[in-house]
Amino acid sequence: MKFFIDSANLEQIRSIQELGLLDGVTTNPSLMAKEGINNVDEHYQAICKITEGDVSAEVLSTSYEEMVQEGRHLAKLATNIVVKVPMTFDGLKAIRTLKQEGIRTNCTLVFTPIQALLAAKAGATYVSPFIGRLDDISSEGIKLIRQIKKIFRNYQLPTYILAASIRHTLHVVQVALAGADYVTIPYPTFISLVKHPLTDIGLEKFLKDANKI
Ligand code: E4P
Repeated sequence: MKFFIDSANLEQIRSIQELGLLDGVTTNPSLMAKEGINNVDEHYQAICKITEGDVSAEVLSTSYEEMVQEGRHLAKLATNIVVKVPMTFDGLKAIRTLKQEGIRTNCTLVFTPIQALLAAKAGATYVSPFIGRLDDISSEGIKLIRQIKKIFRNYQLPTYILAASIRHTLHVVQVALAGADYVTIPYPTFISLVKHPLTDIGLEKFLKDANKI
């Protein structure tokens, strides 16, 4: 399973890149707004300089024509930009057109297996099922990943499953077991993947005992 960071914060992205575990980045308008960015294009280019992996840049328009135009513009910013398009009627049309032009897409805001199948049939490179937001409303988000995996396997669809809206370390374990191709992880969750209290206690004891040698 490949690891993306779900962040628009350059320091966080750099930190995971330096760890050697970064396969790419996903952003969304909320994450961009959180960083107080003035020049969005320059910010995407700065992210693309940190990683050679794919960087999802989301369109802000909602009509087919505008999404395609915006997608073309975003794709020109760097070779590793993937255009993030929402799961709507116009979004599906835009994904198809961008695919025909050789522009890669990430279909976002996917909440049902059928939405994922539609995105794959439209030619999306990635599909992003949001599992945390389903858990938030008392649905079992992980079931969605399992269902999409089965459907994509049944029809040998080449679209990657990018598990998104990750809230905690258990989600990362669950999506790995379910066979997600990618997971996009917020920085704090990335950090907590490394940690375990027994590791800390064990290390402390080993170091203490090492003094007795
Ligand atoms: C995915 O690409 C999205 O940016 C993200 O995972 C959304 O997560 P949230 O539900 O925590 O906002």
